[in-house]
Amino acid sequence: MDNSGSRRIVVGVSGASGAALGLAVLDGLRAAGVESHLVLTRGAELTIEQELSIGVDGFCSHADVVYNNRNIGAAIASGTFKTAGMIVSPCSMKTLAGVASGYSENLLLRAADVTMKERRPLVLMVRETPFNSIHVDNMQRLVRIPGVVLLPPLLTFYNGAQTVDQMVHHVACKALDAFGIEPEGFQRWS
Ligand SMILES: Cc1cc2nc3c(=O)[nH]c(=O)nc-3n(C[C@H](O)[C@H](O)[C@H](O)COP(=O)(O)O)c2cc1C
Repeated sequence: MDNSGSRRIVVGVSGASGAALGLAVLDGLRAAGVESHLVLTRGAELTIEQELSIGVDGFCSHADVVYNNRNIGAAIASGTFKTAGMIVSPCSMKTLAGVASGYSENLLLRAADVTMKERRPLVLMVRETPFNSIHVDNMQRLVRIPGVVLLPPLLTFYNGAQTVDQMVHHVACKALDAFGIEPEGFQRWS
């Protein structure tokens, strides 16, 4: 393992729709040779079962290290464990609220809190539609924090995507791009 943390990224997956986004981020990290440290919420387990055919174990096999979300003493709960930052993909409105309020009652939330306190990049792939004012207030609070990127997984049309998989890949690439990772097959506008 690389203890400098520069080739290590924490991936949180929460219970918003779009488990495929988390999978695409993990695969992008693996393709780029970046170590992924995965933590799933219970909600994420439900959406994985609902939306993907690979199941939770299959999903976890795409990560290098997997943590139990109840284990608040895990490595990623401490700022002394170096990482290049964290991606929450997808990020539910509940997890968004926890991050915005500093209410770190599980490992994913603690890891996000640590990422911000250590001034590391935190990409939140917030997913809900439509938003209510509480969602927007929480996003407004977070977007002011240096390093926090709100990256909703919106449909993209300009890149010629023909399938949902291609759109998922494109938005996952944008999350990796925030870390300076050049993802395989990323169609940049030129
Ligand atoms: C199939 C499914 C899809 C969901 N989609 C969303 C969503 O897109 N956005 C959202 O904020 N919550 C969504 N939820 C609700 C969250 O899973 C729920 O609020 C949960 O408590 C989130 O907890 P977590 O952030 O700890 O995973 C969905 C739930 C299910 C079962």
